[in-house]
Amino acid sequence: MTLDVTTVTPAQWGDDTFAKAALNRMAGGLGGSAILKIAGEINAMKAEGRDICNLTVGDFSPAQFRVPAKFAAEVGKAYAAGQTNYPPAVGLPGTRRAVRDLYERKLGLNYSADSVIMGSGARPPIFATYGLVVQPGDKVLYGIPSWNNHYYCHINGGEVIGIETTADTDFLLHSRHLEGELDGVTLVCLNSPLNPCGTAFTAEALGRLCDVILAENERREARGERPVMVMYDQVYWMLCFGGVEHVTPPGVRPKMAAYTIFVDAISKSFAATGVRVGWAVVPPGLTPAYKALIGHMGAWAPRPEQLATEALLDDEQAIIDYHSEMKAAVEARLNALHNGFEAMHAEGLPVRSLAPQGAIYLSVRFSILGRSAAGKTFASDDDIRGYLLDEAGFGIVPFQAFGLTEDTGWMRLSVGAVGLDDIEAGLARIAGALRKVS
Ligand SMILES: Cc1ncc(COP(=O)(O)O)c(C=O)c1O
Repeated sequence: MTLDVTTVTPAQWGDDTFAKAALNRMAGGLGGSAILKIAGEINAMKAEGRDICNLTVGDFSPAQFRVPAKFAAEVGKAYAAGQTNYPPAVGLPGTRRAVRDLYERKLGLNYSADSVIMGSGARPPIFATYGLVVQPGDKVLYGIPSWNNHYYCHINGGEVIGIETTADTDFLLHSRHLEGELDGVTLVCLNSPLNPCGTAFTAEALGRLCDVILAENERREARGERPVMVMYDQVYWMLCFGGVEHVTPPGVRPKMAAYTIFVDAISKSFAATGVRVGWAVVPPGLTPAYKALIGHMGAWAPRPEQLATEALLDDEQAIIDYHSEMKAAVEARLNALHNGFEAMHAEGLPVRSLAPQGAIYLSVRFSILGRSAAGKTFASDDDIRGYLLDEAGFGIVPFQAFGLTEDTGWMRLSVGAVGLDDIEAGLARIAGALRKVS
């Protein structure tokens, strides 16, 4: 006989109230992704046969972007060779060494391989960083818009010091934002190139931010207090465009090496979001704690994929060849969008975008709040998003999904799942939709 477990909720509870009673307070407040909700709406429209230029999800479609051929071949070889038992919890020695070498070669940072802790993508290193640095009552400071920091704060009982940024700093945190805000802060989260905005720190701007943190840590050290640590999320660092050079906290201020925890992955740089290989690079001394937490999370990357990562990262020419095509294809899509919007702006339409600097994102502002079309007045960014989706089949995400509270008309456009032809067709429809706004 089969037990029907779909009906086991005790009779006095509904499913919702049972979940509230059974789960802790943290779980009650943990929301799902706002972006995935919008993506669900788009998928429903597609199922009805609508032609949609889907710029919502921060992922790559394999129809547009593939992992490096070398990587795919090496994964296959590793499986064929029976490389399927547990890797060490911190990662395979060769993969950790290959990441170390990559950082020395490309970023000028000479870490020991012991500082590299592998994980299944960038998320477990983020989870571990919060888990090891933030305890209930600690403050966590980051710029808004930001990708997912509020969830990790919530999980760890951290108090959010969310600083809403504006286009005048390319939506990046600026040193003036830190002044007077660091009291009680144990973690500052920086991300460059930035999801959702596609902007990146200059050496000068990052250096000024680091100066404020170093001065605070000098004071704290004199008082024997816990330092401010920086989580530097650089998952998009190999995708910088238009002459932008990726910079790091220790790269611009060597003393920051003691306080910086890097979070990184092959997910974005090699269109490998579903492969799940990432890492943290941590200051000497933090490795044992990382090893313990990541090990208990069971969040290590699969052994064949770690071996393939080692082979890929060691092959500089394979990386150069891959990026000469893949990066160019990302940049072409971002530029097509940016140039299209700037042409609309020149025509007098109410839209602007920030020039692409990095990642797979473009920041675009539709300045039509309070205006009307299709019998509707746009009172919020979500109204604008809904109109552009219905009228132009253009799927985009308002900055509110990344924590911005104010309605500003700013939206994130993500190009990993669309072709240039989708973009050209979508831009023509957008121009038509904007011309109808009065
Ligand atoms: C800024 C940033 N960090 C980390 C991640 C997570 O990367 P992974 O898929 O490797 O867990 C993402 C994914 O969208 C991201 O945008």
